[in-house]
Order: sequence, then structure tokens, then C-alpha cells
Amino acid sequence: MSTIKIAIQKSGRLNEDSLQILKDCGISIDNGKDQLKASARNFPLEVFYLRNGDIPQYLRDGVVDIAIIGENVLIEKGEDIAIAEKLGFSKCKVSLAIPKEKDYNGISDFQGKRIATSYPNTVQQYLNKHNIEADLHIINGSVEIAPNIGLADAICDIVSSGSTLFKNNLKEVEVMLKSEAVLAVSPKITNEAKETLEKLQFRMRAVLNGKN
Ligand code: PRP
Ligand code: MG
Repeated sequence: MSTIKIAIQKSGRLNEDSLQILKDCGISIDNGKDQLKASARNFPLEVFYLRNGDIPQYLRDGVVDIAIIGENVLIEKGEDIAIAEKLGFSKCKVSLAIPKEKDYNGISDFQGKRIATSYPNTVQQYLNKHNIEADLHIINGSVEIAPNIGLADAICDIVSSGSTLFKNNLKEVEVMLKSEAVLAVSPKITNEAKETLEKLQFRMRAVLNGKN
């Protein structure tokens, strides 16, 4: 069987569950904590630990064959990349939120407003769909602080438990999309690698069915 290369999140919310599902598939990976690359001992698999936002480009270029990644990241940066399997973990929403004390009358409230976000494409598409023009401020993290420091009127970010919104006195007013971890496939995957992918998917399905 030919070896396939898989990208998983280096650190962050998907990292642990991604390694766990591979483990549940019976695949053991030699893991040095600071290693960016590791091989499986008993399956033809090489694991690359990468930054979330970089993964769509690695898939596009064929540097990796497959990846475990949040659907939300693909929607933002990789709409051209195919999803082979939904994995059922790391469920979240990508939502618009405003200061909790403000009234909300609907999406037209965002007209002319400043929105801080790490998901500019997702927000822009949503606003276009509703014929709203707003001013986007792109920031990479800690987005929820923006209204409190006067940088924006609203934010768009991931909502999971809702605790970050709550702690920053924000309320969710529009859910733009729902997301979960998925197995994504490079458009450049070779036929040999595809055979290995099928074996991996067969195991993943068994694991996922076992959990339902
Ligand atoms: C993510 C995301 C939200 C938060 C949502 O941030 O950007 O801020 O988690 O989760 P919650 O609804 O359970 O609070 P993260 O903590 O990963 O940090 P970052 O924004 O600095 O990347
Ligand atoms: Mg955050």
C-alpha cells in the first residue's frame, strides 16, 4: 500500500480529537511533542502537524493528500476542496455577535457597521447575500475583544460553548453556518494514495458507526 500524508492541526481544539480518531482506527503514531512530522507504526500514514489556516493551501498544492480540519476553515479558505467524511467532533457555529445591551432588529442593523473577524470571506458572502455593506476588520485571534476596545461594532467568530461571547458581554444574533471536523482530500491525490485512503475511511466509518 502506498503511504498517504495527512495534515492535522498542530495545536488547538482539533488536535487531540484528530489524534484520538486515528488511534481509534488502530493507528499508532510515534509522537515527539515538538515534532512537526511523524510516521505511523502500523499503517502507511505520515502525519504533518500544521497551522489550521495553512491546511487548505497544502491540500491544494498536494503537499498533503488528506487532512482533518474544521469545515468552517474550508468554507473560508478552501471551497474547492472535497470533503470525504464528516467526523462528528469539534462542532461549532460561525456567528455574528453584538454587544449584549444593544437592540437587534435583523441583519439590516449591520449596514455601515464595523465588523471584526478572522473569517472575512464567510462574512462577506453572507453580507452580499443580504445586500448589506459593512466594514470588515480582519484580526487573527481574540476577536471578541474588538467591540470593548472600540475597534468594531460587532464581531464574527466561532461559537462553541458560547463562553467567550458571554465573558465579553456579547450576544449571538446571526448564525452564518454550522461546522464540524471533516476529512478533506487534496485534488492532487494519486490513485495509489486513494487506495490507502479507502482503507483509512473504512476504519473511520467503523469507528463513527460504533459511536452512534
Ligand atoms: C476560539 C474562537 C472563539 C472561541 C469560541 O478562540 O475564536 O473565540 O474559541 O469558543 P467558546 O464558544 O467555547 O468560547 P480560541 O480560544 O481558539 O482563541 P483565538 O481566538 O485567539 O484563536
Ligand atoms: Mg477566539
